[in-house]
Amino acid sequence: MNASSDNSAPAVEVSHLRKVYGSGHTEVVAIQDASLRIERGEIVGMLGPSGSGKSTLLTAIALINPPTSGQITIDGTPVLDGPRALVDLRSFRRQHLGFVFQKANLIPFLTALENVRIAMEINDVPPHQARARAVELLEQLGVGQRANNLPDALSGGEQQRVAVARALANHPSLILADEPTAALDKERGRQVMELFAQIAHKQNAGVIVVTHDHRTLDVFDRTLDVEDGVIRLKKN
Ligand SMILES: Nc1ncnc2c1ncn2[C@@H]1O[C@H](COP(=O)(O)OP(=O)(O)O)[C@@H](O)[C@H]1O
Ligand SMILES: [Mg+2]
Repeated sequence: MNASSDNSAPAVEVSHLRKVYGSGHTEVVAIQDASLRIERGEIVGMLGPSGSGKSTLLTAIALINPPTSGQITIDGTPVLDGPRALVDLRSFRRQHLGFVFQKANLIPFLTALENVRIAMEINDVPPHQARARAVELLEQLGVGQRANNLPDALSGGEQQRVAVARALANHPSLILADEPTAALDKERGRQVMELFAQIAHKQNAGVIVVTHDHRTLDVFDRTLDVEDGVIRLKKN
């Protein structure tokens, strides 16, 4: 676990986030005024039509797409005030966050195992420990037998499961996933969602999953609807 994590603080708190792309007559207000709070130990589904601002919100929380204004606090640490970084975002991201996007984006010249290991080694996890955890995660995700293959030799679904293993490697306190099951069949999609729920509940992480898959909504503790850049919080 991260020594710097505050276990009692919410996984993430977003306050009055606004994101405007472009300027003048090309301006797009992607997020109008979004506030949310996700506790550790809960898994939250983010729903909403295409173009409603889900990815913008998720990538803002992922610290890769800074907001125009508003605050983001992760694990009790204020990290962004508008576009202004309050911590070293790169190292904070590596230590606290795990993401899975629609595309796996594995490093093409590293094997499945190496792709997972490297996520830990850049955080100074000793190589033997990183290797053991990578093997365990790949097995847990059903791709243990593919450990020594390059991404090119894996199917889209297998690559995505390696990406999930990589996202979980550093025991993140907040996991962000943008349509992570889009490339998976129904059964694999459900397995990945259930794994996320298990990580939220057993490892006390906060998990936010953007999804269109209405067959797996039952894994969420609650869902949050995004419409035209505004969040509607609701209880299931
Ligand atoms: N890089 C960008 N530049 C300009 N507009 C963008 C950019 N990314 C997203 N948008 C616009 O912001 C709005 C929200 O997009 P997005 O967050 O991708 O929605 P979703 O993930 O819900 O489909 C859309 O109108 C989209 O066209
Ligand atoms: Mg999107």
